[in-house]
Amino acid sequence: MLTKEEIVYWLKEDNPDLLQALWQNADRVRQNHVDAVVHLRGIIEISNYCQRRCRYCGINATNKSVKRYRMSMDEILQVAQTIQGLGYGTVVLQAGEDFRITGDWVLELVKRIKNDTGLAVTLSLGERHPDELEAWHRAGADRYLLKFETANPLLFKKIHPPKNGGIWKKRIDILRFLKEIGYETGSGIIVGLPGQSYEELADSILLFKKLDLDMIGNGPFIPHPGTPLGKGNQQRKNPVQQVPNDALMTCKVNALTRIVCPDVNIPSTTALATVDRQQGCESGLRSGANVIMPDFTPLPYRQWYDIYPGRMLSYQTPQKQHALLVRMLHKIGRPIGQGAGASLNFLRRTKRVFEA
Ligand code: 5AD
Repeated sequence: MLTKEEIVYWLKEDNPDLLQALWQNADRVRQNHVDAVVHLRGIIEISNYCQRRCRYCGINATNKSVKRYRMSMDEILQVAQTIQGLGYGTVVLQAGEDFRITGDWVLELVKRIKNDTGLAVTLSLGERHPDELEAWHRAGADRYLLKFETANPLLFKKIHPPKNGGIWKKRIDILRFLKEIGYETGSGIIVGLPGQSYEELADSILLFKKLDLDMIGNGPFIPHPGTPLGKGNQQRKNPVQQVPNDALMTCKVNALTRIVCPDVNIPSTTALATVDRQQGCESGLRSGANVIMPDFTPLPYRQWYDIYPGRMLSYQTPQKQHALLVRMLHKIGRPIGQGAGASLNFLRRTKRVFEA
């Protein structure tokens, strides 16, 4: 286990030889705990309507220049079939916090996906009512993702205006609730938010551990010109030593997360692949990650799910996208995981597997 001081030390380390040791260490922990396989999750971004006004996010409610969409149940089911047809074990349904997506509709959708495809279902639909979260889990939803974005309640408040939410403690309480009612539970942070310090990154990593999370996804902050935080003049005013929002810092956070939370599933995120198009995805997998979440949202919706710029690297058919991924994984010697690929942390904490 690392102390906060040790984590901060590593986050500030820039000597390439020493960093090599960090990557190797994280990679060894990953290999010993969750194996060589990389689990693939197919993401469908089912709606970009959002009632929140997160100051970093391009689909926040105040951004009038995004075209809004909500996919139909049939459209979603069709994409889920494609994802299953490619051999994936999990579909992730992601959306803005869209209350026109009703609890009953999601319930029906989850049932139909489970019935038609047998895929594990991960939901990422924001802060929803506990009764809905519970009903969706009973209907078959396996996992839930809700990022706390930063371990600092004050920074959280600054970037999440209070109308319709924006309370850090509430989000943490929902994460605890999700675990309690049986979800495999995921969270994560944005790395390099304006005003974010090294100490706070260390606090986030320790909070992952304290909350005993099952999945942890971290991505670099990518300024979006249509948002308050995308205008680029925030950092000068900050009294803290600003954390860089680059691929290297994200890989350090992932590596330290792997070392501190050895049994969790960690994706090499799309945001990481966006800031380093050549190497990002691979670097993530080499520094502790064991999951990739390719996007299967059909056009034109994928373009409109504009949470940060440059996300849609290039559009490939699902088959071509999969073939490219298979090639990359083969190149780095990592086999594709079979089945649902549940988090070892979840299996352990729910006593589905026992220590040898
Ligand atoms: N830069 C990086 N990540 C972002 N997200 C949203 N906007 C941005 C941005 N500008 C991330 C948040 C959110 C997830 C869906 O995308 O972590 O939880």
